[in-house]
Amino acid sequence: MNYNKKTVHDFDPHGKKVLLRCDFNVPQNKETGEITSDKRIVAALPTIKYLLDNGAAVIACSHLGKPKGEWKEKLSLRPVAKRLTELLGMDVIMSADIVGEDAKAKAAALQPGQLMLLENLRFDKREEKNDPEFAKELASMAEVYVSDAFGTVHRAHASTAGVAAYLPAYAGLLVEKEISVMGKALSDPARPFVAILGGAKVSDKIGVINNLLEKADTIIVGGGMAYTFKLAQGHTIGKSLLEADRVEYAKEMMTKAEAKGVKLLLPVDHVCAAEFSADAEPVVTGEDIPDELMGMDIGPKTVELYKDAVKGAGTVVWNGPMGVFEFASFNKGTFAVAEAVANCGGVTIIGGGDSASAVEKSGYADKITHISTGGGASLEFLEGLELPGVACLLDK
Ligand code: 3PG
Repeated sequence: MNYNKKTVHDFDPHGKKVLLRCDFNVPQNKETGEITSDKRIVAALPTIKYLLDNGAAVIACSHLGKPKGEWKEKLSLRPVAKRLTELLGMDVIMSADIVGEDAKAKAAALQPGQLMLLENLRFDKREEKNDPEFAKELASMAEVYVSDAFGTVHRAHASTAGVAAYLPAYAGLLVEKEISVMGKALSDPARPFVAILGGAKVSDKIGVINNLLEKADTIIVGGGMAYTFKLAQGHTIGKSLLEADRVEYAKEMMTKAEAKGVKLLLPVDHVCAAEFSADAEPVVTGEDIPDELMGMDIGPKTVELYKDAVKGAGTVVWNGPMGVFEFASFNKGTFAVAEAVANCGGVTIIGGGDSASAVEKSGYADKITHISTGGGASLEFLEGLELPGVACLLDK
């Protein structure tokens, strides 16, 4: 996969109408619709400002949630337009439709330095089908396409990939940053290269483990997925999460790691509970988990082991928490690893989604080199898969 893509710095925005795909898929309060984290909106501001300051008329677009081709008032992008207005201190023209009369008239009248936002792309079922007619209609409003929606580059949709067939396509500053930082970590990492993988399921991380076994010096495994590995090693795991159909795979990965000289670290003790609940009493166990308990976090010895493994790393890539960090009694492993990563002195990259919120909750986010805005997208990136929303951009 070629990560060396033309960016907004490779064309002159003056007087151009730019269709800018953003990822404004922000979390909202289910009742009030209030945006609960505007991080993705803030992350898009540098590109928006650059284009506006350099004389472009910007037609921004995004999806929000999963309306599946239906018009759902609750998933309107109007709250995003309001937040953009507050953040930029300027009017944001909201269109009442996507490629309908209102959007087209507003786009035609849009002046250099003005910003408009189309309604939720997924209100039209043609978006997710990557329908060429829909892509063409989107393209017809602009002269240039810029993708700054890193969180959505793993989707081959009309606005993320299809549209590039009709307009010259460039990376925005966020996409450029995401692919250059993560691309370097995978292609030419400062060593030692330590990958930390966690989260509930082995099956979600198979592609990542396969790819990182070829590149990393050390792979640290935590979270729910670790118990399948522990069972594969011959330990008891009590009522912990298990993917019985992945035990063989876990064994193969351990053998492969050994053959390649990659250190694959697994928990040597655990913080367990009798039930999956925030109020459950934490119980520290050794390597074997008794029948009546389930693993909820890595134990104190494991924390020391993992801290040592991270110390002095040249590159750390982390995807997936070490335990149930949402529950205060079971967040210590994740937060201790976050601290170790923040202080390791190397280039540190956090995949989006849960890992990003865990690091933010830990208070160490400011000391991390790069926290990806993409959940699924950063995972697919780490798997080494071709991302349609990147592949469609012009090569340098
Ligand atoms: C995300 O939140 O991961 C992106 O916005 C993509 O959303 P999707 O999973 O609904 O395609």
